[in-house]
Amino acid sequence: MNISNLRAREILDSRGIPTIETEITLEDGTKAKGAVPSGASTGTTEVLEMRDDDKARYFGDGVLNAVSKVETEIKTAIVGMNYDTQADLDNFLILLDGTLNKSKLGGNSILSVSMAFARAMAISTKQPLYQYFAKAYFGDEYESKFKIEMPQSMVLLMEGGKHGNWATDFQEYMVVPKKERFPKYSDVVRAGAEIFKATHDALLKRGYSATVGFEGAFAPHEIRSNTEAFEIMLEGVELAGYKVGEEIVLALDMAASEFYDRETGKYNLKREGLILSSEEWLEKQADWFRQYPIWSIEDTLFEEDWDTWVRLVDQFGSTMQIVGDDLLTTNVERIRKAITADAANAVLVKINQIGTITETIEAIKMAKSVGWGAVMSHRGGETNDDLIADLAIGTMSGQTKFGGPDRGERLAKYNRLTEIELGW
Ligand code: PGA
Ligand code: ZN
Repeated sequence: MNISNLRAREILDSRGIPTIETEITLEDGTKAKGAVPSGASTGTTEVLEMRDDDKARYFGDGVLNAVSKVETEIKTAIVGMNYDTQADLDNFLILLDGTLNKSKLGGNSILSVSMAFARAMAISTKQPLYQYFAKAYFGDEYESKFKIEMPQSMVLLMEGGKHGNWATDFQEYMVVPKKERFPKYSDVVRAGAEIFKATHDALLKRGYSATVGFEGAFAPHEIRSNTEAFEIMLEGVELAGYKVGEEIVLALDMAASEFYDRETGKYNLKREGLILSSEEWLEKQADWFRQYPIWSIEDTLFEEDWDTWVRLVDQFGSTMQIVGDDLLTTNVERIRKAITADAANAVLVKINQIGTITETIEAIKMAKSVGWGAVMSHRGGETNDDLIADLAIGTMSGQTKFGGPDRGERLAKYNRLTEIELGW
């Protein structure tokens, strides 16, 4: 399909920080937009998020340069050109940028175009966005391999780290309604929302505050330790009438690169008053994994602590899901390295870590090819764009992580999944 116009603008994300939104027009008149998310605790090997560094605007966080890249260099190169597939456009953009980390045009500029194109193509070819993604993912095998299967979702209840004012050292505490016990997605959403409400009540009972962090979950500053969050969550699950272990298990994203001290090579757990070597930290984690019904763990280690990642998988990989986020940054090369080393058994998938839909699809394919899990994920800074819900369905990623049920930009994704389930 020929592209006939492209325009971009600076909008605000869910934290009040600028991000980029691009609108594409196809030759048949179809218009569609894509709005790019933004991380708070980013991995070092993510593609470049182009910001202005003009301290006079938004403390340097403006994205007018990225907007200008779309409206000048990218526009000049792609308007009037024909792209038959998502890969055709994305590969062209990758070449146009020419750098490994998309630093010439900006990962955010490129992704906004990639997203807008996907949505415009789906509209123009009169198919749901997830179906367009499924065709891009499965290719010739689309008919035989694709079916709509609702994901198992990690629902966020408590936040700490950078997202939650360092209420705890760890970033995300989640509940996971087990897929086999919750085959209907609307029941997953209901369980998540009911447990969230019950957790709210459990917090108030303790005299703790119940305000939420970046991703729509509780971040009480009164909390006394990292593990108290588990206790509160489990209380919430029981209060809501669900069975811990049988129906609901726990998932955790520690975002450990944020509390790892690169100078000393130690893990600095402020809430525990502990400074631990990799070995000691692994032992401490092992205690918790024995004590609490934790099924999935993400980034419990620093993103370059490869040897300890390998030991983690060796010890817990057969019973737990071990997810690499900052470790892998949705990057095929890093995923390949981790597969070879046996350093994780699942990948967290974030479209803006890598910067195009096509590369995101390749990352999921690589993980799935060796039986790994793939968790489609939001970012700390989000918009109401719900494209990742369709991408999760289209790629049959099997799992999602879209935050807590208390902020519109998170619910946009949950609500899109329930819409897909209804077949609307
Ligand atoms: P981020 O965090 O988007 O702020 O990096 C989300 C996550 O780590 O899952
Ligand atoms: Zn993470």
